[in-house]
Amino acid sequence: MKRYLQRYGSMMRFNHWIMVLLFGLAGFSGLALFHPSLFFLDNLFGGPQWTRILHPYLGVGVFIAFLFMFFALARANLFNRNDVEWMKKSGDMLAGRKANMPPAGRFNAGQKGVFWVMAICMLLLLVTGVLFWQQWFANSVPIPLQRVALVVHALSAFAISLVVVMHIYAALWVKGTVRAMTQGTVSAGWAKQNHYLWYKKVTGEGADKR
Ligand code: HEM
Repeated sequence: MKRYLQRYGSMMRFNHWIMVLLFGLAGFSGLALFHPSLFFLDNLFGGPQWTRILHPYLGVGVFIAFLFMFFALARANLFNRNDVEWMKKSGDMLAGRKANMPPAGRFNAGQKGVFWVMAICMLLLLVTGVLFWQQWFANSVPIPLQRVALVVHALSAFAISLVVVMHIYAALWVKGTVRAMTQGTVSAGWAKQNHYLWYKKVTGEGADKR
């Protein structure tokens, strides 16, 4: 039996960490523009003008990095029948009773939910951000539409930040997960315990190869 199983290739990991970096920079520069109590954050970007110039480009950068992950992983994140069972038992997962959880594929229903919320928020952030991007587009967008776009932009940023916090917490909480995005591999025991259907598929163990 192999001790470690490949979960992500080097390009995917590189892309993920670039996305994390850009997400952090876009997030902080966005906060620096959001409320007077946070204006001090613009010091990180060379002052208010630079923050305003850089923020939309950083946002487009995050979107492009996410797009690669989206196309590579969307199929594996489609919901199926197993996910309904998993969702019904999600209380057990949160209570730490992992043994009660039904077997999951490459991603469990919680991870899939996070993935789709991220995808929707990324799209909303891009579309709404473009609508009030003063330098290029805002002149041809009616002011009331820009106002709605601003509110949706802030709400999407808030929602994606919440799910990112959940995502990081889950990655740290489930021991042995972070190495999937650092080394690219997970232990066979981790895969068996957390993603049994995926484990069976990649190892060929068991008759059922879903
Ligand atoms: C320090 C921050 C972060 C850490 C430690 C982290 C860690 C991880 C780990 C360990 C995985 C692999 C999970 C698995 O295969 O079971 C993963 C996957 C992923 N991460 Fe992160 N991540 C971070 C930030 C982010 C951010 C900011 C985003 C998006 C804005 C993001 C989006 C994703 C996506 C889309 C996947 C693929 C999971 C899926 O398709 O369901 N991550 N991350």
